[in-house]
Amino acid sequence: MHNPHWWRDAVIYQIYPRSFADADGDGMGDVTGIISRLGYLQSLNIDALWISPFYASPLHDGGYDVADYRRIDPRLGSVEEVKELLDQAHARNLKIFFDLVPNHTSIDHAWFQEVLNDPPGSPSWDRYMIREGKGSHRELPPNNWTSVFHGAGWTQLEHDGKPTGYWYLHIFDTSQPDLNWENPEVIEEFHSILRFWFDLGVDGFRIDVAHGLRKDPALPDVVLDQSNPDFDLYRPYWDQDSVHEVYQGWRAIANEYPDQRVFCGEAWVATEERLSLYLRSDELHTCFNFNYLQAGWDATKMHEVIDQTIATHAKVGAPPTWVLSNHDVIRHRTRLAPLVNGEPDLERGLDRARAATLFALSLPGSAYIYQGEELGLDEVTDLSPEVRQDPAWLRSGGTDGKRDGCRVPLPWDTSSESFGFSANGNSWLPQPAHWSELTIQAQSADPESTLNFYRRTLALRKAEPSLGEGSLQWLDAGNPEVLAFQRGETQTAVVSVINLGDDLVHLPTYLGTEVLATSSDAVAVLDTSDGQHVVIGGETAVWLRAK
Ligand code: GLC
Repeated sequence: MHNPHWWRDAVIYQIYPRSFADADGDGMGDVTGIISRLGYLQSLNIDALWISPFYASPLHDGGYDVADYRRIDPRLGSVEEVKELLDQAHARNLKIFFDLVPNHTSIDHAWFQEVLNDPPGSPSWDRYMIREGKGSHRELPPNNWTSVFHGAGWTQLEHDGKPTGYWYLHIFDTSQPDLNWENPEVIEEFHSILRFWFDLGVDGFRIDVAHGLRKDPALPDVVLDQSNPDFDLYRPYWDQDSVHEVYQGWRAIANEYPDQRVFCGEAWVATEERLSLYLRSDELHTCFNFNYLQAGWDATKMHEVIDQTIATHAKVGAPPTWVLSNHDVIRHRTRLAPLVNGEPDLERGLDRARAATLFALSLPGSAYIYQGEELGLDEVTDLSPEVRQDPAWLRSGGTDGKRDGCRVPLPWDTSSESFGFSANGNSWLPQPAHWSELTIQAQSADPESTLNFYRRTLALRKAEPSLGEGSLQWLDAGNPEVLAFQRGETQTAVVSVINLGDDLVHLPTYLGTEVLATSSDAVAVLDTSDGQHVVIGGETAVWLRAK
C-alpha cells in the first residue's frame, strides 16, 4: 500500500557507487552493478537507497566535485541506466535518494570553464565566490578562510598563465569552487536540476554541505573562540540565516509533485536548536543527526543526545534520524572498538557495533546504514599512500584525510581477486585479505553472521508496530551503564536495552522476559525463585517484549 509518510521511519541504505559493485570490470563500481545487486538490497529489508554522487566528475573528491549535474559519469553509467535503476528499484518497493552537491561545482563544470575564459567582472564570474585579493598586487587572499581539506580556502585565478589578482573561494578542495548562492541564476539552475531528476522519478535528495551555501556577505575573517566546545562550527560560511530561503524554494518544488519527494540535509551545525531550523515544515524533511554518531560508547552522552534530539525534532514536527557510519567517518566497528596496546580490539568492536546498531534501530524516526556495515566491515587503516585518493590526504601531507579507509569496495564472494566486487578482479582500492571471511556469500550461510543479524533486525523493525515513529519512555535498568527505554504503550510495546559496560548485568524483571532480538548470544533468560529475568552480557543489546 502506498504510504506517503514512508520517509518518517524509513531505513535508508547508503551506496557509495564506486565501491558497491562493478559490472564492467574496470575496478570502479557502476550503475549496472547496483542494478545487478538489487535482490541483495531487497533481502536486507531496507526501505530506500541513498546513492552518493555518480554524476560526471573528474573525481578529485570521489564525485563530490560535479562537472555536469544532469549527466552520469560515463565510468559509472548513463541517465538511461539510472532510469532503469529507478524503475527496477521501485518495482521492488525500494525508494531512491540521489545526492545533490549544491555548495560547489567541479572546476570542470562548464560554468567554471567560462570563468577561466572570460575577462574579470564578466557575468560568468558572479556565479562563483570570486573576490579581489588583498595587498598592493592583490597577491594575498581576500580573507583568512581556510579549506576543510587543509590549506587556504582561496586560490588565485590565472589568465594565460598570469595571476589576475582575483581569487575564488573553495571551502573544500581547489577543484571545488564555491557557488555564489546570492546569484539568481544559481538558484534557478538548481531548481531546474531538482526538476530534472524528480521528473525522472527519484524519490528524494541527500543535500551535501546543506549548511554552507550562503556566506556572510561581508566575508569577515574567521575568529575562533576556542573556549566554546563547538567553536569550529562558528564560521562566517556555515549556517548563515539566509540559507533557509534556499530550502524554502526547494521544498516548494518538491511539493509540486503529487507523491512525496523528500530531502535529507547534511548540516553540521553547532546546536540542536540550529539544526531544527532546517527542519521546519517548509524546509527540509530530515537532516542527519551527527551528534548521535559522535556520542561514542558512553551511556551518559548517548542518553543526553537521544533526549536532546527527540525534543528538538518534536518542536518542529520532524522525525529524527540515526546514523553510525557513512563515507566520511571511520567505520563504527573500528571507531567504537576499545584500544588494546594502542590498537582497536576489533572483536569487541564488532560486539559494540552490533549492539549500537540494534539500539539505534529501536529509536524513533528513520535510520541510515552505510554499505558494508551490515557485514561488520572494519576500517581499512593500512592503505598505502599511493592508492589513497582523499583530497584532504593530499592537502594535509598525509596527516589527515583518511576517508578512503571506509570506501574500500565491498567483498561479495570469494570468486576473484576482488572478492566478486568486479567482473574481472579489479578494485580501485585494495581489499584486505581477512575480508574473505566477511563476504556476503560467507555470511549468508551463517545464521549468526552480522549480515543475518541485520536482516533479522530490519525485518523485525518493520513488523513491530511500536518501532519506527513515535515517542519513547526511559526505564530504569538499575545500572548506570545500561540504557533502557520502551517504545509503544500497548501489548505490542518493545523494550530496548543496551549494556555499555563490560560486565554481565541481571535486568529487572519488569523490563520484560520475552527476547525478540539480540546483538550477540550473550543474552539468557534465567529462572529464579522470584520468577524469570534476563541476563545480558557486556557490550550487548537486546529487544524485549514489554511486560
Ligand atoms: C560532504 C561529503 C564529503 C565531501 C564534502 C565536499 O561532507 O559527505 O564526502 O568531501 O561534502 O563535497
